[in-house]
Amino acid sequence: MRYLTFALAKGRLAKKSLEMFEKVGITCEEMKDKDTRKLIFVNEELKLKFFLAKAGDVPTYVEYGAADIGVVGKDTILEEGRKLFEVMDLGFGKCRMCVCGPESARELLKHHEMIRVASKYPNIAKDYFYNKKHQTVEIIKLNGSVELAPIVNLSEVIVDIVETGSTLRENGLTILEEICPLSARMVVNQVSMKMENERIMKLLNDLKAVI
Ligand code: PRP
Repeated sequence: MRYLTFALAKGRLAKKSLEMFEKVGITCEEMKDKDTRKLIFVNEELKLKFFLAKAGDVPTYVEYGAADIGVVGKDTILEEGRKLFEVMDLGFGKCRMCVCGPESARELLKHHEMIRVASKYPNIAKDYFYNKKHQTVEIIKLNGSVELAPIVNLSEVIVDIVETGSTLRENGLTILEEICPLSARMVVNQVSMKMENERIMKLLNDLKAVI
C-alpha cells in the first residue's frame, strides 16, 4: 500500500483539520508538538503522510499530485483556480468574502464608478467586479492587514474575509456587499481520485458520519 499524502493549510485551519481526522481514528501525535519545525509527519500504521503548507500553496501541491488530498479554505481554492476536485465542505472555518469599506463608499458601488479595490485576493476581486457587477475597477494586491487600505486612502474599498467582523468594527469599516460564504473544504488530486478511489471514498464516508 502506498502512502496517502495530505497537505494541510498552516494556521487556523490546521488544528481543526487534525481534530476532524482524530474523530475518524486518524492521528498524528508528532504534529501536535507546537515547537516542532518539522514539515512532514508520518503515520506508519495507516500509511499516511501529512504536511503543513502555506494555505495558498495547498491547491498547488494537490494539483501536481505532491499531495493526494488537501484541506484548505474555499477562499484559497477560488483564488488559486487550480485543477482539482473539491469533494467536501468540512463545515469549519466558516466566514464570508465581502466588499468592505467606510459607509461613504457605498454610493461608489451603486453607480459603477471607477474605484480602487485592495485585496489579498485579486482574482476573486476581479471576478466579482468584472464578471458579476460589470464594474471596471483598479485592483491593488496586498498581502495582509488589508483593512488599512481604505483608512490610509490607498483604495476606496477592500475585498476581504470577514469572520467575526471585529477587525472591520475596530477600524470604522463595514460590510458593503457579500460575495460568497466560505469554509474549509477537502480537495483531491484528479488522478489520485481514480487511482486511490477506494481509500479516498472510505475516508470521505467516515468524515461525513462525524461532520
Ligand atoms: C483575516 C482577514 C481579516 C480578519 C477578519 O486576517 O483578512 O483581516 O481576519 O476576521 P474578523 O472578522 O474576525 O475580524 P488575518 O488575521 O488572517 O490576517 P491578515 O490581515 O494579515 O491577512
